[in-house]
Amino acid sequence: MQLLEQRILQNGNVLGENILKVDSFLTHQVDYQLMKEMGKVLADAYRDKGITKVVTIEASGIAPAIYVAESLEVPMIFAKKHKNITMTEGILTAEVYSFTKQVTSTVSIASKFLNENDHVLIVDDFLANGQAAKGLIEIIQQAGASIAGVGIVIEKSFQDGRQLIEDLDVPVSSLARIEKFENGQVVFKEADL
Ligand code: G4P
Repeated sequence: MQLLEQRILQNGNVLGENILKVDSFLTHQVDYQLMKEMGKVLADAYRDKGITKVVTIEASGIAPAIYVAESLEVPMIFAKKHKNITMTEGILTAEVYSFTKQVTSTVSIASKFLNENDHVLIVDDFLANGQAAKGLIEIIQQAGASIAGVGIVIEKSFQDGRQLIEDLDVPVSSLARIEKFENGQVVFKEADL
């Protein structure tokens, strides 16, 4: 998506070897107009697929996911990373290991929000090692629901996430795909959308 690539070039900062800082429009301050455009493009790719729910993981997945859900006119559910005292009923959980933070966290969704009649689109801000998306796939499968695909805002194609998810037979569509960072600059490869 050209608009997103331009914005990354304009406002993204490469940190160290492999981190892209996009806190001015995606992961901290949120540009809702850009989110809305991105939400529509991701939604259009899945519009005729019978999606009933959009699922993401807190925190930074929520902003793009809500606009995809709005465009598809379905609910958005975000997996929680911390147990909440109000989550007293059945919960579906998966262990997610973060290579970046080197910690494993248990992510959860209340079982009442997903069932075998659901056809789910997963949305997330970054696809790096794919552990977050893999955890969401496990949770959705526990609920007996089916998965149409994973829609990603920024994919770091030099990491293993896409392969991991495609090996689970789940298609991945990314709005921007980063081939590499070169001298502090972002080099894109052709995006899916
Ligand atoms: P994964 O998300 O594909 O499983 O990979 P990884 O374990 O490497 O990522 C851990 C966290 O770091 C994720 O956020 C992910 O979105 C984020 N991340 C990975 N690469 C980048 C990057 O280049 N730039 C930025 N800004 N973030 C990156 P999280 O900790 O789960 O959550 P949150 O920040 O949404 O709360």
